[in-house]
Parts: sequence; C-alpha cells; structure tokens
Amino acid sequence: MINAIASVLISEEEIEKRINELAKEISQDYQGQSIHTVSVLKGATIFSSDLIRKLEIPVTIDFIGVSSYGQSTESSGIVRIIKDLDETVEEKHVLLIEDIVDTGLTLKYIQELLMSRKPKSLKTCVLLNKPDRRKVEVKVDYVGFTIPNEFVVGYGLDFDGKLRNLPFIGIIRI
Ligand code: IMP
Ligand code: MG
Repeated sequence: MINAIASVLISEEEIEKRINELAKEISQDYQGQSIHTVSVLKGATIFSSDLIRKLEIPVTIDFIGVSSYGQSTESSGIVRIIKDLDETVEEKHVLLIEDIVDTGLTLKYIQELLMSRKPKSLKTCVLLNKPDRRKVEVKVDYVGFTIPNEFVVGYGLDFDGKLRNLPFIGIIRI
C-alpha cells in the first residue's frame, strides 16, 4: 500500500456498492424529472462521475470551484468562488454533489449561493459525513458513509493536493 496510508477505511468495493444504492434512491426520488448536478471541484469529481453514470434519469452537469480563505486546514466559513457555474440553475432541479461535509461551513455557503439563484429545488448528496466536527447545521439529503473524526484521503479527497487518485478511502499516516 502507498506509504502515506495508515489504513483503508472504505474499500473500492464498498464505495461501488453504496454508489449503486444512492443512485437507485436518487433515481426513484426524481422519477419523471431531470436533474442538474452541481459538483464541487476538485474533491467531488471522482464521486460524482461514478454516481451520475448510475442514475436512471436525464442529467445535465455543471461544476463549481471553491476555496476557503484562511491560513489553517480548518474551514474558515469564508468561501471564495474560484470557478463559477457555466449555466443558470434557475427553474432546475439541482443536486449538489460534494465529497465530504465536515464543519459544514463550505456546504452551507454553496447551498445559500445556489438558493439565491432560484432553482426549482435543491438537494445535496455527499459521499462522506463527519458529524463530530459540525459547526453549522446543514441539510444533507443523501449521505454515502458517516465516518469518525479522521483525516481521510482518496477517491477525490486530497492531502495537500495529493492522493486524490486512490480508488479507496484511506486514513492518512501522520
Ligand atoms: P467544511 O467546510 O469544514 O465542511 O469542509 C469541507 C471541505 O474540507 C471538503 O470539501 C474537503 O475539501 C475538506 N475536508 C474536510 N475533511 C477532510 C478530510 O478528512 N480529508 C480531505 N479533505 C477534507
Ligand atoms: Mg472539497
């Protein structure tokens, strides 16, 4: 295994199985409708590309790039838009897709931004939920896995820009 990884938290097979379940649930919930996904760069790209391929409803896709201001690895709550959406979300059923909800500050900010642009509806899907670290209440409609308070990498999540390409979720060796 890659030296930086202390242990595998969620295997490739477990991720695939859970994505199939999520896709089925989402497809049922939106039956007869189409959805417009907004995936958060860069962390959610791998999760969202696997998820949307399993959806059984019409889908259009867009991306938003954000970064937290501040010196620490902790989210400050002040979020800067690095790459805005290409298309309007007005009158669309929007599904926001993110890799992880930690303090909740990033997701809350993006949800408020999207709501101000008047989608027909907004739901949120995250691969990972770390509830122990929540600072603000945030509504999440679909959760892949709830995990303990560990810093995880892989399957889109990075440490200093690296390890996003691991096919599993691992706990980093510190
Ligand atoms: P929040 O605003 O604290 O919820 O931060 C969410 C963002 O922090 C995510 O989009 C990730 O980029 C990053 N993040 C939080 N926890 C982890 C982790 O365990 N590994 C990698 N990135 C993380
Ligand atoms: Mg992120």
